[in-house]
Amino acid sequence: MHSAEKKHDFEPKVVAFVCTWCTYAGADLAGTSRMQYPPNVRVLKFPCTGRIDPVFILRAFQKGADGVLVSGCHPGDCHYMAGNFHARRRFAAFRVLLGFVGVDLNRLQFSWVSAAEGGKWVEVVTELTERVRAMGPMREFKELEQEEQWSATLTTPELQQAYESI
Ligand code: FES
Repeated sequence: MHSAEKKHDFEPKVVAFVCTWCTYAGADLAGTSRMQYPPNVRVLKFPCTGRIDPVFILRAFQKGADGVLVSGCHPGDCHYMAGNFHARRRFAAFRVLLGFVGVDLNRLQFSWVSAAEGGKWVEVVTELTERVRAMGPMREFKELEQEEQWSATLTTPELQQAYESI
C-alpha cells in the first residue's frame, strides 16, 4: 500500500481547547441543531482561552492528538475582558516555538467561535480534521512520551483524565 493511501485511511484525533462562554456554547448549538461534524474531535472546555496554557497543547500532541484547535470568544467579547487578547499574544509566540521544534503548524489552529456560530464551529472542526487527515498521523511528540523529562508540568486530574482518553 502506498503511504499516500495510508494517510487517508487513518482517523485523526483532534483535541479542541475551548472557552466555555463562546465556543463551547457554539459547539453545543451545533449539536442541538443536529449539524453534522466529524466525531474525531474531543472538546476540553476552560473558563477562558486566557486559562489555556501552551503546555496543554504540547501535552495533547504528546498524548496522541494529530491536530489541536484552540478557540474562544471573538476579540472584544471575552467574559474576562482581555483574556483572549492575552491568549492570542501568547499563542502567537508559542507557534513560533512549535515551528522551531519541527511541528508542522498546519496541525494547530486558532479561531474565534461565538455562542451563536454553530455553523462556524462545524466549518472550523471539519476543515482542521480533513487537513490533518491528509497530513497523516502526528508522530514527533509521541516519541517524546518515552522520555518525559520536559513535560511533567501538567498534572491536573481533569486534564490528566482527558488526555488518558485521547
Ligand atoms: S471568556 Fe471566552 S475567551 Fe475569555
